[in-house]
Amino acid sequence: MATAKKVTRESAAPKPKEATSLLRADHKLVNDLFAEYEKSRSNVRKKQIVSMICKELTIHAQIEEEIFYPAVKAALKDKELIPEATVEHATLKDLIAQVKDVDPDGEIFDAKIKVLSEYVKHHVKEEQNEIFPKAKESSLDLLEIGAQLTERKAELSEKYK
Ligand SMILES: [Fe+2]
Ligand SMILES: [Fe+2]
Repeated sequence: MATAKKVTRESAAPKPKEATSLLRADHKLVNDLFAEYEKSRSNVRKKQIVSMICKELTIHAQIEEEIFYPAVKAALKDKELIPEATVEHATLKDLIAQVKDVDPDGEIFDAKIKVLSEYVKHHVKEEQNEIFPKAKESSLDLLEIGAQLTERKAELSEKYK
C-alpha cells in the first residue's frame, strides 16, 4: 500500500536565496517581458505586458532602495556606485510614469518602451557587473538580506496599484 508523502514545514517553505540571486531573477523576468513586448502585435497584449513591466520595475527599485542599496553602501563605504544607481532609478521612474496606464498608440509609445528597455539593460549591467560582485566579496549576509527582500516584495506586491 502506498503511503502518503509527509509534507513537512521545511518542504513547504521557499528555499532561502541570496539577495543577488533574487535581484538577478527579477532582472531576467523584466528582460523577458521586454522581449515579449517586441514580438507582440496586439495593443491589448502590449498594454498587459507594460503593466507587468511597470509593476515589476517599481517594486524592484523600491526594495533595492529600501534594503539592498543602503546595506551595500554601508558595507562597501561606497560613495559612487550606489548614488549613481539611485539617480538612475529616478530616471527609470520618470520613464515608467510616461507609459504606465497609457494606451499603446503607435510608434511613439513603442519608442518609449524601447528607450525604457535600453535604460533598464544599462542599469542592470552596472548592478550585475559592478555592484553585485563587490557585495558578494563583502561581509554582508546576502541570505539574510535576501529574506528581507522577499518579505518586502510580497508586501509591496499586495499593495501595488
Ligand atoms: Fe536598480
Ligand atoms: Fe536591479
